[in-house]
Amino acid sequence: MLLNRFERLIVNQPLRPLTQRWIEAPPLRRLGAKLRGKQVLEIGCGQGEGQRILRHDFGARCVVGCDLDGRQLRRARRRRFADEQLQWIQADAEALPFASEGFDAVVSFNALHHVPNWDAALMEARRVLRPGGQLLLLETMRGFLEFPPMRRLMEHPREGRFDADQLCHAVQEAGFELRGTRSIPSCFLWLVAELRL
Ligand SMILES: C[S@@+](CC[C@H](N)C(=O)[O-])C[C@H]1O[C@@H](n2cnc3c(N)ncnc32)[C@H](O)[C@@H]1O
Repeated sequence: MLLNRFERLIVNQPLRPLTQRWIEAPPLRRLGAKLRGKQVLEIGCGQGEGQRILRHDFGARCVVGCDLDGRQLRRARRRRFADEQLQWIQADAEALPFASEGFDAVVSFNALHHVPNWDAALMEARRVLRPGGQLLLLETMRGFLEFPPMRRLMEHPREGRFDADQLCHAVQEAGFELRGTRSIPSCFLWLVAELRL
């Protein structure tokens, strides 16, 4: 689901790269993310800041970013970061245009809760990952989305949003072994999992 004006303003505001780098990404490393030298896919990459972090702070070899929103992808391409190992493609997380088992890791910063059928997106993440590959998620929980001011300002699919237990359960059902989680109760969940061999 595309971002509304307010959400676009929030994700593209000038301080966002700092919060993503210093607050959102580090817990994934502490939970066991291992991306050095890996081929990584970021789902819902937005303006591309996550890709830059995955490449430069986590040492990924190449980071392909996909997003439903052509405007955000144009923004990411404009920013470019002088890095040939970053690529962008417009795609829906529910039907990824990539071969099976082509990535060592799949990462998503706060995109899954925008996807109407996020279970299908998890199955797609599983399909494009090689066995043993890592899934890294930072996600917003239902409790935060249902907080009245958030409901008024932001637009998300209303049905079937998840809490931490539901997301962990779905990740396991999709064939992953949980390696670690951290949560801010009812608000955010960081999760690192590995696709079972
Ligand atoms: C809250 S933004 C997060 C963007 C970026 N990851 C960040 O942290 O700044 C959610 C992103 O997911 C994208 N998105 C929403 N639905 C999607 C879908 N079905 N497939 C791929 N991307 C999607 C949106 O266009 C948006 O860029």
